[in-house]
Amino acid sequence: MNETLDKVDDHLCAEAREALELPKPERIAFCREDRWVGYTRAQQILRQCDDLLLHPRSLRMPCLLIVGRSNNGKSSIIEHFIKRHPFLTKEDGTPGFSISWVALPAKPSESNFWSEVLWSLNIAHRSQDRADVKRPAAIDAMRYASTRMLVIDEMNHLANAGKDAATLLAEIKNATSALRIPILATGTQPAIHALRSEPQLMTRFEPIGLERWKLDAEYLRFLISYEKLLPLAEQSNLASRTLAPVIYGMAGDTIGDTVSLLKEAAVQAIEMGRERIDAEVLSKLRGHRREDWDEAAKRL
Ligand SMILES: Nc1ncnc2c1ncn2[C@@H]1O[C@H](COP(=O)(O)OP(=O)(O)OP(=O)(O)O)[C@@H](O)[C@H]1O
Ligand SMILES: [Mg+2]
Repeated sequence: MNETLDKVDDHLCAEAREALELPKPERIAFCREDRWVGYTRAQQILRQCDDLLLHPRSLRMPCLLIVGRSNNGKSSIIEHFIKRHPFLTKEDGTPGFSISWVALPAKPSESNFWSEVLWSLNIAHRSQDRADVKRPAAIDAMRYASTRMLVIDEMNHLANAGKDAATLLAEIKNATSALRIPILATGTQPAIHALRSEPQLMTRFEPIGLERWKLDAEYLRFLISYEKLLPLAEQSNLASRTLAPVIYGMAGDTIGDTVSLLKEAAVQAIEMGRERIDAEVLSKLRGHRREDWDEAAKRL
């Protein structure tokens, strides 16, 4: 690495510093990759998930529902949690420990739910089989895989199950009670309403909110952390008084919007031959402003 870069790249993490040396298209691809930032709320939730996993087995296992608006980091927390607890096998090759992770289908039914569980454990089966056939197979498979927790993403899709929602929830409750495992679920607001159709299960759940972001110290910390991940040779000072309110105003509602804005701003800076994100780079970004959507809608 040359001397100039040595001086200017202290603001980057090691991986991003190395990426500075990549050819332009690869540097751009690097900007667009997903990276994990352990912001305070995510760390708290991860600790709660760990506690849930270690909860002693009992007939009435506690459950968690991570609830928040769309694009606000729910699935990312689950993904990170599961990476922290990889599938383990015993010395004899049999499964020693696992977490089963399913996303509730867009229009859930008993049958397609059990299919998801079976697929998550790589068990081949006929999708058109009735729930009565798949349910025992799925429960046996979870038992064999030493499943210690059932993770259900997109619990809000329950709202699309109509009158089947209560039956499906009752099945999930019975299966997890039989296996004595907790449920970790995520969803947007409709998940809460849908859970009401099975009060016995609902009382087992503790809701954990992933609130809307505010322009506060936590948001500024997030910007500082994310800046370290973007391979730009000069410091942008994203958390400065000039830039942070602009970024928050354009995309501050959710972590997903903020991250996609920062990724595209870094790409824009590289395309412009500028080694930092500044107000001019941000002003060139399309698709992140409400006016862009209003204009597109008008043209249709
Ligand atoms: N901890 C994090 N660090 C860095 N980026 C993150 C983090 N969490 C989320 N993101 C970014 O935000 C995007 C949206 O997050 P995610 O898919 O987890 O949201 P969600 O709440 O599950 O949304 P939906 O309700 O639509 O499924 C991710 O693709 C990722 O780019
Ligand atoms: Mg999600």
